[in-house]
Amino acid sequence: MTAGQAQGKVILLGEHAVVYGHPALCGALRDGVTVEAVPGEGLLSVPAWGKRIAAGAQGDALGQAYGAILRSLALSGRPLHHDFVVRFAIPTSAGLGSSAALAVALARTLDSVLGLGLAAGAVAEAALAAETVFHGRPSGLDHTVAQHGGFGLFRREQGLSPLPASSLPLCIGLTGRARDTRGRVERVAELYRQDPDGMQGRFAAIAALVQRGAKAVTEGDLAALGEAMNRNQQELRHLEVSCPEIESMCRIATDAGALGAKLTGGGGGGCVIAVAPGREAQVQEAWRRAGFASFVTSVGGRPS
Ligand code: MEV
Repeated sequence: MTAGQAQGKVILLGEHAVVYGHPALCGALRDGVTVEAVPGEGLLSVPAWGKRIAAGAQGDALGQAYGAILRSLALSGRPLHHDFVVRFAIPTSAGLGSSAALAVALARTLDSVLGLGLAAGAVAEAALAAETVFHGRPSGLDHTVAQHGGFGLFRREQGLSPLPASSLPLCIGLTGRARDTRGRVERVAELYRQDPDGMQGRFAAIAALVQRGAKAVTEGDLAALGEAMNRNQQELRHLEVSCPEIESMCRIATDAGALGAKLTGGGGGGCVIAVAPGREAQVQEAWRRAGFASFVTSVGGRPS
């Protein structure tokens, strides 16, 4: 069996500002996406969504993204004798980078099944082409973390600078509402057009929190990381990328003893992350009582 794998991601600090060239603190999730090659006719199959589609399928973002990957790898029109079966070990549409992990894992599977001998840069380009279909004009953070794993500071055009930090246990709670990355990125762009100076001030404040958070994770100072996360969430609220579920989950987490909590990724729904060393079970229980599902994982490590 040939299967490619890639990890999901968490943005600990700095989403949205990263689109404008500021750094973001991010790490890979232990789990991610696997794409398995089975005998077939070149279709992409996602059993969890009941989907089996051709590359470039009209009106289907996944089919378009698949087509973009084949184009980027100069494989359009080449007969394929496999189907590609996608299995998610992380929630999808939740701000955890599942689409980027899918793209990287699919490029890796095509690479090994067809013996392409792709360089890392070609896999990255193919994944970016797919992410552009899904998200418009992404910063590139998601597919970079999906491909390289670990912990780091990501900057548009500069890529990921790894940080010497050990992996971090994290509570991840699901709002139950799909994240709205494209819509929220567009709203932030609208706010930027209306008030460039004000928004630059907010991005600078977020960038300072990112630097503080990077120092905190490197030194293992989770209280400082938690405080940076809480303050980043306040900024994100002003960027209009939060939602009532996110606000309520952050409050619940900190009331249950988390040192910090915030949305992660595009926002408008998706997930809340909370740092709660030794209090993970209490945070999960408080979320559960309020009707929110969650899991505890580690971020910043290599694949499980
Ligand atoms: C998406 O995971 C995070 C955003 O910053 C968008 C991007 O980086 O492309 C909202």
